[in-house]
Amino acid sequence: MARFHRRRLRSRTSSDSPRLPHTVRRRIKIRICGEEQAGCDDQLAHSRRPVQRDDISSSPASHCRGVSPFSCPFLTTPLSLQIVTFRDYLPILLGDEMQKWIPPYQGYSETVDPRISNVFTFALRFGHLEVPSTVSCLDENYQPWGSEPELPLHTLFFNTWRLVKDGGIDPLVRGLLAKKAKLVRQDKMMTGELRNMLFQPNHTIHGSAVGRFDLAAINIQRSRDHGQPGYNSWRAFCGLSQPKTLEELSAVLRNEVLAKRLLDLYGTPDNIDIWLGAIAEPLVHRGRVGPLLTCLLGQQFQRI
Ligand code: HEM
Repeated sequence: MARFHRRRLRSRTSSDSPRLPHTVRRRIKIRICGEEQAGCDDQLAHSRRPVQRDDISSSPASHCRGVSPFSCPFLTTPLSLQIVTFRDYLPILLGDEMQKWIPPYQGYSETVDPRISNVFTFALRFGHLEVPSTVSCLDENYQPWGSEPELPLHTLFFNTWRLVKDGGIDPLVRGLLAKKAKLVRQDKMMTGELRNMLFQPNHTIHGSAVGRFDLAAINIQRSRDHGQPGYNSWRAFCGLSQPKTLEELSAVLRNEVLAKRLLDLYGTPDNIDIWLGAIAEPLVHRGRVGPLLTCLLGQQFQRI
């Protein structure tokens, strides 16, 4: 498909009209149109396809030859995103489970429903555990920059003045690029910056303060708002065992202290909220999430 696009782009002469080739325009339309949006052609929206070997072996920029610079980001951005997600990110996230959940692409199937499931919006919130407590500011040589090179996360919520007055966006973007994600651990789940100080302003906005929130509590409460089934229902959905007792839960979590804390709170593993139960599991081999999350995330990315 990508080769086909390149051939089409190359075959255009300089006297061609600035209109994009039909196949390219079609892909752009696919990206812009969501399934629910009025006026979008269902068939087009459905023909999204995952990244293929050809896309990966060529630079995204090569898709821009002959295309107006204005239109090019519409091509390169989704393509780069697909490459980074499927080639670079998911193997690290799913570890040894990658092949099981995301086997090599076999071609388009009309029977696959690529829409995002409700439970995925909770599964992907495991990312909240990977957020570090500080944001780094780095200079051109990726060395600490300015008088406060390590800024606590909460000092940046609603804090746009730093972008305008304190060195611009570059030091922050470099910091985001260079800083490693926080490692998810059963005894250090979410940074206090997100738990106790979410959206805590260090100054008032238009004269009024914004509340202090707890992102973990919001995630749990939101899954209840959505009527999400509990931990064991999702374990069953994924073909995993359903622990019933302290002993069984301790074995699944490989952590008796954590299992006891959860049972003190919830009474039974059946009641554990999906987000909390999923992030409490030990990581799969060479992965960054536990077995339940590899299933919930893997199935969704496979369908996309
Ligand atoms: C500083 C970093 C972050 C902050 C402050 C933040 C904050 C939030 C907030 C306030 C919500 C809405 C909660 C609700 O009302 O239910 C949310 C939702 C969500 N977050 Fe984050 N988040 C951060 C990073 C991340 C990361 C790194 C990931 C994943 C890799 C992630 C994945 C999600 C997902 C999947 C949702 C649900 C979206 C939906 O249902 O539409 N977040 N986040």
